[in-house]
Amino acid sequence: MSLVEKIDLQRVPRHIAIIMDGNGRWAKERNLDRSQGHRKGLDIVHEITNDAADLGVECLTLYAFSTENWNRPQAEVDALMALVVYGIERETPGMIENGVRLSVIGDTSRMPLEVQQRLQKCIEDTAAGTRITLNLALSYSARWEITHAAQQLAQEAAQGIIKPEEIDDKMFASRLTTAQLSDPDLLIRTGGEQRISNFLLWQLSYAEFYFTDEYWPDFNKESLCKAIIDFQNRERRYGKTSEQVQSNDQV
Ligand code: IPE
Ligand code: IPE
Ligand code: MG
Repeated sequence: MSLVEKIDLQRVPRHIAIIMDGNGRWAKERNLDRSQGHRKGLDIVHEITNDAADLGVECLTLYAFSTENWNRPQAEVDALMALVVYGIERETPGMIENGVRLSVIGDTSRMPLEVQQRLQKCIEDTAAGTRITLNLALSYSARWEITHAAQQLAQEAAQGIIKPEEIDDKMFASRLTTAQLSDPDLLIRTGGEQRISNFLLWQLSYAEFYFTDEYWPDFNKESLCKAIIDFQNRERRYGKTSEQVQSNDQV
């Protein structure tokens, strides 16, 4: 039985978020430049997006560049920005053809203008895609996002548009960059680290976490299937008892 056959297609996570880590170590092990690891990582983004869509995943959020990554050596930052432009240019026609809709979360105003413009054009060109949403986290950090939402709500309250006591978790979530998306069901981190690195702190409240030692450039459809199978073997209790969850399932 293949790994794909072991997946219950009725219970595939609707939204998967991935911390794509390990490009640099993958390159180092091969005596390559770190940027070559990122380049290989881009090919994996292409593969995994299509694999996830084939399995029925509705949204894939990929952590591609964090706020903290601005502190990397300038040459690496430049190479990553150039890779975004190259990747968008290369992938847009295939995305349109395959029904992949691009969205972006993060403080993109910090990115070079050309990158911002290419991203915007790809978002517009792929807007009709309904097979899967590819949501790229670029210049993203959860603390930036949460403080930004808090600022916005404070401004609205100061202007009398909302009352402070009206702020609840729904309203808060509607001011986050992910307002249009459901929360991730599954978080995958490649590269062996078991930390969240300022990613989707709010949205991952009830996600299942899956860590693998594989470096992102080695991640493939089989790895994705393993993560989904692991996810399907868990019981999401949301604070309830196992008995409550099982009796609800029967109703
Ligand atoms: C993840 O790979 C990609 C980005 C953060 C842009 P890394 O570049 O962090 O790879 P390692 O962790 O150094 O191996
Ligand atoms: C997290 O990876 C960010 C991305 C994958 C874009 P890092 O490699 O930057 O994370 P840390 O520094 O190990 O926590
Ligand atoms: Mg890393």
